[in-house]
Amino acid sequence: MITDVQQEILRLKKEKDFCILAHCYQTPDILEIADFTGDSFALSTKAVNVPQKNVLMCGVRFMAETVKIFSPEKRVYLSKSEAGCPMAEQLDVDMLAQLKALYPEHTVVAYVNTTAELKTLCDVCVTSSSAVQILRKLPEKKVLFIPDCNLGDFVQKQVPDKEIVTVHGGCPTHARLTVQDVEKAKKAHPDAEFLVHPECVPEVVALADYAGSTTGIMNYAAKSKARSFIIGTENSIVQHLQLAHPDKMFYPLSKDCVCHNMKLTTLVDVLNVLKGTEGEEILMDEEMRLKAKGCMDRMLELGQ
Ligand code: 13P
Ligand code: SF4
Repeated sequence: MITDVQQEILRLKKEKDFCILAHCYQTPDILEIADFTGDSFALSTKAVNVPQKNVLMCGVRFMAETVKIFSPEKRVYLSKSEAGCPMAEQLDVDMLAQLKALYPEHTVVAYVNTTAELKTLCDVCVTSSSAVQILRKLPEKKVLFIPDCNLGDFVQKQVPDKEIVTVHGGCPTHARLTVQDVEKAKKAHPDAEFLVHPECVPEVVALADYAGSTTGIMNYAAKSKARSFIIGTENSIVQHLQLAHPDKMFYPLSKDCVCHNMKLTTLVDVLNVLKGTEGEEILMDEEMRLKAKGCMDRMLELGQ
């Protein structure tokens, strides 16, 4: 029974002094046993003030690294070693060094979906919920935005006074969503509002009634007077929204918008991490941590 496993997790969590963080893209059985759930930004600093000595991140590797960057004294675990974010691994330090040489006057803005190693070469970090605000506040005009050209394009449209250079890269999950999907969904649900994550291609984002981060989409749907919505982001969000608002209707833009990396973690994996038989402890060289922390600190400073 799922509930028996959940009960055992709750018991072990207390006994072994663990705080569990879960990104919204995790399955509901995992979200139910987490201490905190949310999008990348909400989870980034959650562990800093918790009393527990151990933190388990149910999500992907860059999220666990982010926790370690801000909480070096805690033992931080990733729920599943293989759970990486393909976008975070698209650029390595050599490639970024070459890009920086091409754009020596540009401030390097990194989406938080990057490795800790890559962050050591960046000036400011952003999340999808803070990118526009941070770019508006950033005093520098010339920006090299990595690695998501779709989010970079979205930000450029909202902050036209910046000169933003992007490189070809992004989220393979959101990139699956097409204009044809939008046309088909709007035909099937003509009264629905279309809400989209800016990791989608600009042609899809252009057709939306609202574009924003996971939290932004959830808040918009909660407040909107519309009765039905087409959701252009990872399909977990369709499920969470439908549960939260049974009086409204939520339709996925495509059945294919599923992040298989986020879905690698199962409830039993969580149990096994607490038992000490699975998961990976995130270990980070202190020099690298401090360098990576520089751009994360600037994110917090400008995101306030
Ligand atoms: P947010 O959590 O910032 O909305 O990003 C979505 C995502 O793709 C996480 O990897
Ligand atoms: Fe990475 Fe995209 Fe999956 Fe988020 S949804 S973890 S950006 S691959």
